[in-house]
Amino acid sequence: MGIYNVNEHTLRLKTGVKWSHYQTDVLPAWVADMDFEVAQPIKAALANRVETSDYGYPVGQQQTSLPELFCERVKKKFDWDVKSDSVLLINDVVQGLYLGLQTFSKKGEGVVVQPPIYPPFLHSVQETDRRLVSVPLVLRANGYGIDFDRLQSSITKSTRIFMLCNPHNPTGRSFSRRELEELADFCCRNDLLILSDEIHADLILNDTDHIPIASLGSDIAERTVTLMSASKAFNIAGLCLAFAHFGSANLRKQFDSVPRHTRGGTNTLSIAAVHAAWTQGEEWLENTLGMLRENRDLVSQFVASRWPEVVYYPPEATYLAWLDMRALKLSSNPYTHILEEGRVALGNGVDFGAEGVQHVRLNFATSHDILVSILERIDKVIVSSREHP
Ligand SMILES: Cc1ncc(COP(=O)(O)O)c(C=O)c1O
Repeated sequence: MGIYNVNEHTLRLKTGVKWSHYQTDVLPAWVADMDFEVAQPIKAALANRVETSDYGYPVGQQQTSLPELFCERVKKKFDWDVKSDSVLLINDVVQGLYLGLQTFSKKGEGVVVQPPIYPPFLHSVQETDRRLVSVPLVLRANGYGIDFDRLQSSITKSTRIFMLCNPHNPTGRSFSRRELEELADFCCRNDLLILSDEIHADLILNDTDHIPIASLGSDIAERTVTLMSASKAFNIAGLCLAFAHFGSANLRKQFDSVPRHTRGGTNTLSIAAVHAAWTQGEEWLENTLGMLRENRDLVSQFVASRWPEVVYYPPEATYLAWLDMRALKLSSNPYTHILEEGRVALGNGVDFGAEGVQHVRLNFATSHDILVSILERIDKVIVSSREHP
């Protein structure tokens, strides 16, 4: 299908960071943007705003009908019942992480994160002067999982927040109902608030459903702030609009202390784009998930046949492959080595915490041909490193 056969020349004309950050001989597979064209209804909605010079101040959040659309959508997709007055529009999910930390904890209080983890989780805790309580995901025979024993022994009376990333970036885990129930139970018993980043919820590649942790019951909902967005699944991150759901009126009330103008979420173009995505974008999303599954399987076959030393669990969700290259014993950091020798820009594992040493993250949301070029370039570097260790 045309929208997935994007060519390199066209992509290099884009102004976004993915294709402009590195030199022009580098293939970018780093930042989490997809190379596919966005859904036609989103294009049409944006074109309509452009044609009619419709750039004036937007209506207030409640008049956008997006809170209601959010409720309809999460009911249909995740069987999660929520009310529109518990939903707020904000600028982006990372902003929600920062504001959540500042609203629901104090300086010096503990915040649990599960590295390797999307870097802003680490930055937000550090930059807001909270205390990082690191409970890494543990690697078991069947992939990454939650280390409940370590979780229990790591928290103290001053641990306030559990920052959940589900689906998890970079491992691609989509946590099971059993894992989430155990986690919810743990957070209730230890009086922790959950700040749940579920931005990848629409990008489930396996035959399972995404489960919002707040949907598990009223006890857990009451202590959960859920952050979601159309930006990852519909490839419109640059437009900046996200949603915060508060599982109780009390949480919402506390968040109301954040001045409205520092929250954002009222952006004429993004409101139009998200409305189009959520009312007319489902067919595009289904096709895109099909393409992402094909690409994931291509990466899996490639890794298994060419790089048996690389430890890799195909992601259950997201379009990111987390590759453990420790056994290759490359002479330097694999990110630097592959960038310099292979001219491919991957995500640098160390940015995801100490657990990411000698790992890289590969974004496979690109055309089949570009993905094959990326893999072949990395393969050359690996073959050469085996020959000249
Ligand atoms: C887990 C996770 N959260 C948040 C973001 C960024 O969200 P936003 O652009 O809404 O800040 C990303 C982007 O890749 C992500 O992977």
